[in-house]
Amino acid sequence: MSLTHRSFLFPFLSLLLLLLLPPTASSSSIQNLLKSQGLPGGLFPENVKSFDLGQNGRLEVHLDSPCMAKYETRVHFDSVVRANLSYGGLVGLEGLSQEELFLWFPVKGIIVSDPSSGLILFDIGLARKQLSRSLFEDPPVCKPQGAVPENFGRKMGFAVLG
Ligand SMILES: *[C@@H]1O[C@H](CO)[C@@H](O)[C@H](O)[C@H]1NC(C)=O
Repeated sequence: MSLTHRSFLFPFLSLLLLLLLPPTASSSSIQNLLKSQGLPGGLFPENVKSFDLGQNGRLEVHLDSPCMAKYETRVHFDSVVRANLSYGGLVGLEGLSQEELFLWFPVKGIIVSDPSSGLILFDIGLARKQLSRSLFEDPPVCKPQGAVPENFGRKMGFAVLG
């Protein structure tokens, strides 16, 4: 009886342990990475699968799938987002776009220029948009997109801007 118990208990406990481990381990460590660079921890969504930081500061973030999240406006993440990470900024961003008046603009950089201001800047090429940093403290839920074709808005954005 006790033997049966033990042989049941061990795999059961290991399974329990696995289930108790935080499922978002990789996204929580990307949060720590961002915070260590003076950036808010929620710039990438919950569904970060893995990320890699090269020696030159090139950050590559892999998501489960392309998805859409909402901060103040809607933001679209490709399944791979790349950026140069340095203190207070992500520049040379690829794979992130933001909706503005029904158009999608590629976000080229995210910058904290003055930490005391409580603002972060989204560089969308022609303009820098100020957003409250508090919107980005926690990773947003990011939903795989439905009907919107991935490059539709982006092309429109470029077309309109010339
Ligand atoms: C990003 O880093 C790469 C490699 O270090 C560099 O070639 C590129 O110019 C950088 N881009 C920006 C926008 O800083």
